[in-house]
Amino acid sequence: ETLHFVTMLGSLRKASYNGIVARTLPALAPEGITISALGSIAEFPHYNQDVQEQGFPAAVLAMGEQIRKADGVIIVTPEYNYSVPGVLKNALDWLSRLTPQPFARKPVALQTVSPGMIGGARAQYHIRQSMVFMDALVLNRPEAMIGQAADKFDTDKQELTDERTRAFLTRQIQALADLARREQK
Ligand code: FNR
Repeated sequence: ETLHFVTMLGSLRKASYNGIVARTLPALAPEGITISALGSIAEFPHYNQDVQEQGFPAAVLAMGEQIRKADGVIIVTPEYNYSVPGVLKNALDWLSRLTPQPFARKPVALQTVSPGMIGGARAQYHIRQSMVFMDALVLNRPEAMIGQAADKFDTDKQELTDERTRAFLTRQIQALADLARREQK
């Protein structure tokens, strides 16, 4: 049976490398898997418990529902200052306050892209740490940390051109599907 994954993007930059990857994923999905994008986390206000108590913002409620319905979530994000971009952390904080909590027992894969050598690895380990509390099932392997982005993208065409990276991402999507199918049993 077909699995459906959703992507959450941690960069608001128009020409974002991570955005290119997120938009490429539907074409990289193996047979039997569909992928679509969640709404933009730019729609979320700064987290404030007072605001939450007056009622969750519509964008937060809508994304929570899309995540609950999905078989898995792929978070595609830059690393900022060796950690999680504030806008993404803000979105995760909002979503984590919903009931039922949308990430509970949800298969999640992480992908980071950076012009640097480390490929955003440090951000991934901080996201993983937060997701322990949310009880998400974060895929362990393979880890998708895409470094030296300048060599792997055609930024004029907004394309991920590196074939090895494309094939690697397909393998990671397959691994997330394997995890999701094991969970459904
Ligand atoms: C960065 N960048 C960055 N890169 C990295 O590999 N490790 C880091 O810790 C940081 N820190 C950082 C902080 C801030 C505030 C900015 C704006 C940038 C560089 C970053 O990887 C680069 O700008 C990417 O192009 C951002 O991803 P998108 O927007 O292209 O998807």
